[in-house]
Amino acid sequence: MDRLKGKVALVTGARTGFGRAIAIGFAAEGAKVVAIGRREMTPSDTEILHPGISTVDYINENGGTAVAAFADVRNAEEVDAAVAFAVSTFGRLDIAVNNAGSFTSLKPLHEMDDNDWDFTMGVNGKGVYNCCRAEVQQFLAQKTGGSIINISSVGGLVALPLETVYCASKAAIINMTRVIALDYAKDNIRVNCLSPNFALTGLTYKSYHNDERRKKIEDATPMGRWMNVEEIIGPAVFLASNDSSYITGVTIPVDGGYSMK
Ligand SMILES: NC(=O)c1ccc[n+]([C@@H]2O[C@H](COP(=O)([O-])OP(=O)(O)OC[C@H]3O[C@@H](n4cnc5c(N)ncnc54)[C@H](O)[C@@H]3O)[C@@H](O)[C@H]2O)c1
Repeated sequence: MDRLKGKVALVTGARTGFGRAIAIGFAAEGAKVVAIGRREMTPSDTEILHPGISTVDYINENGGTAVAAFADVRNAEEVDAAVAFAVSTFGRLDIAVNNAGSFTSLKPLHEMDDNDWDFTMGVNGKGVYNCCRAEVQQFLAQKTGGSIINISSVGGLVALPLETVYCASKAAIINMTRVIALDYAKDNIRVNCLSPNFALTGLTYKSYHNDERRKKIEDATPMGRWMNVEEIIGPAVFLASNDSSYITGVTIPVDGGYSMK
């Protein structure tokens, strides 16, 4: 219950999906949460976990503490300002989950244009880079260390058909995680990564509602089912908390065995 008591955690992409689940899960463990979104923290129509209420309202109405902040993770100034807002609100930063991510569409390489690369690498690659830099700067200034959790994907570990740029961007996150972990290990800044399988969120809504594609993913998953969005919470709390105090630079697949084949 209190594994993150007294800690201040920021989560990007916290309005929906995995980010929302992690923000709610962290608050339930006692963390004060800064929920970062690109736009208003309104409830999303496709949400499964506690639908009909925004992330911040859900947390505050259920005994937790959360505030909303706004940043497009592609924009370094907005990211820096969101981290500064977290610190001015709660006095410090201990945990950061760089979860905001995006995807354009399923396409073979020969049909892609520059926008596919620029957009997806911009959000998933540069976005995580901007966030990690601002968070590391804050942890160094505090001299306290901290825990960063980057959200990659099974697509960062194995090839997914028709997802050239998404997979490249998610693999970039995994190795960026290792380098940052290496560079700041002596500062007690731990940097780890989670690679989830397919779960029903806004990102996968179309795939989930396409019977053939949903079944293909089920069949490719040794555990035989899609991930439930709340199954990201346990691994994220583990990496955020002192339970993982000697773990840095790793990527944990949270994928029902998808990437082991
Ligand atoms: N759902 C899956 O099957 C799946 C599988 C593996 C990995 N992931 C990863 O999980 C993370 C969360 O995705 P999700 O599945 O919860 O989907 P989602 O669409 O519900 O959540 C993504 C969130 O990121 C935010 N976001 C997108 N671009 C942004 C930007 N430029 N700046 C700030 N915020 C931005 C969106 O507003 C949204 O709230 C992503 O990194 C995604 O790649 C998802």
